[in-house]
Amino acid sequence: MTENLSPREPATSPTTAQAAAAARAAAAGSAAPAAAPGGTRLDPWFGAYADRAHGMRASEIRALFAVANRPEVVSLAGGMPYLKGLPLDTIASSVAELVATHGATALQYGSGQGDESLREQIVDVMRLEGVSAHPDDVVVTTGSQQALDLVTRIFVNPGDVVVAEAPSYVGALGVFRSYQAEVVHSPIDEHGLIPEVLEETLTRLEAAGKTVKLLYLIPNFHNPGGVSISLERRPRIVDIAQRHGVLVLEDNPYGLLGFDGETMPALQSYHPDGVIYLGSFSKTFAPGYRVGWAVAPHAVREKLVLASEASILCPSNASQMAISTYLATCDWQGQVKQFRELYRERRDAMVGALAEHLPSASWTVPAGGFYTWVRLPEGLDAKAMLPRAVTARVAYVPGTAFYADGSGADHMRLSFCYPTPDQIREGVRRLAGVVSNELDLATIFGTGGTGGDAGSSGRAAADVEAPGPDLA
Ligand SMILES: Cc1ncc(COP(=O)(O)O)c(C=O)c1O
Repeated sequence: MTENLSPREPATSPTTAQAAAAARAAAAGSAAPAAAPGGTRLDPWFGAYADRAHGMRASEIRALFAVANRPEVVSLAGGMPYLKGLPLDTIASSVAELVATHGATALQYGSGQGDESLREQIVDVMRLEGVSAHPDDVVVTTGSQQALDLVTRIFVNPGDVVVAEAPSYVGALGVFRSYQAEVVHSPIDEHGLIPEVLEETLTRLEAAGKTVKLLYLIPNFHNPGGVSISLERRPRIVDIAQRHGVLVLEDNPYGLLGFDGETMPALQSYHPDGVIYLGSFSKTFAPGYRVGWAVAPHAVREKLVLASEASILCPSNASQMAISTYLATCDWQGQVKQFRELYRERRDAMVGALAEHLPSASWTVPAGGFYTWVRLPEGLDAKAMLPRAVTARVAYVPGTAFYADGSGADHMRLSFCYPTPDQIREGVRRLAGVVSNELDLATIFGTGGTGGDAGSSGRAAADVEAPGPDLA
């Protein structure tokens, strides 16, 4: 089974592509293009890539997820919101009307900073989390993922340090790596990032002569940790960053998805000049529109707009106008409330099933968001176990994906956002069977159940980079 899940040779191999290019060149009467020095048989342009491209590698677990997406597999892996809960008919007719009445604007290029009406609405959304910003402070981006990219692009030189929670969001780690940042993790507990350890980490990095550019945080319903930074810690963390001259990058796509409806004040609200805040409509509405935003101190915002224009000219007008219409004409807060109830029911199904079937593991009980972070029984390796889990028709993301240094194999992220409660219970039941087999193997062979060939905790972090959008 493991062999079948390995990445296959591409259908058109580079050698074939080269031959085709040579044939085209010959037909055009010119010589075949020479491969760059340092090319390989598999990639004739290998030697030509910029240094920053060398850290970019497809995850070896990506191939597994092609299988994991089959209908017979219960996927507890992806961070996809459950969109069937949306009023799709209403949205469809308002999009049709938008194109019919404002098509010439919606389908045209727009402003690099983003649509002004939407920026005004974003300011209202953020007020729910204590952010008082002006629409001029907002830069609309193509998902908050693009905002992560832009912020890193304008601040991080190769070798600069980004301090991130341990564990941290896989998509952010991929961005940091692509700009050749050194990621240093600082641990979290059930109350989020631990201020005392953060202080020590920053002091140690300073003493070592490192340049720390960003402190990257997911304050609410952490991906993958499931925890939130407590009210008491928030101002302390902002204060520590300020004293050490480090800009905070607050990534907050889940803040409005707290199951008891309570929202925490954004870190940005404590020190607007020292924090860049990122928001997104992906989890509270729909990721397909790809609309997120950044709120940044004035001068930073100017740079972000320039970087965004260089990258994409402008965010999609059609997407922004569709979201703006949705916010103006639908009961979006009522919809978010429905999502919270739906996800709470799924969280309950997840933690209930874990308690019933996997009592030898431990896990966080998230008060919102999409994820729980599970520690496996002693000696098991979530990455090595994954092929066997997929064979047993259940998928998860191994903890190694969430650490820049390849650690975390004793953990896995389980998502409860997309599968139904029944599917979640069945998925956890299957997972428990796999864990039990691994424990038997460990007892018999003393291997810790790591007999598969998918790697183990000591593997390079680059191997697990960027599992792909379905794992966001
Ligand atoms: C913590 C975090 N940041 C950013 C993103 C990217 O979201 P967007 O769809 O807005 O690009 C995700 C998506 O899962 C996420 O979990």
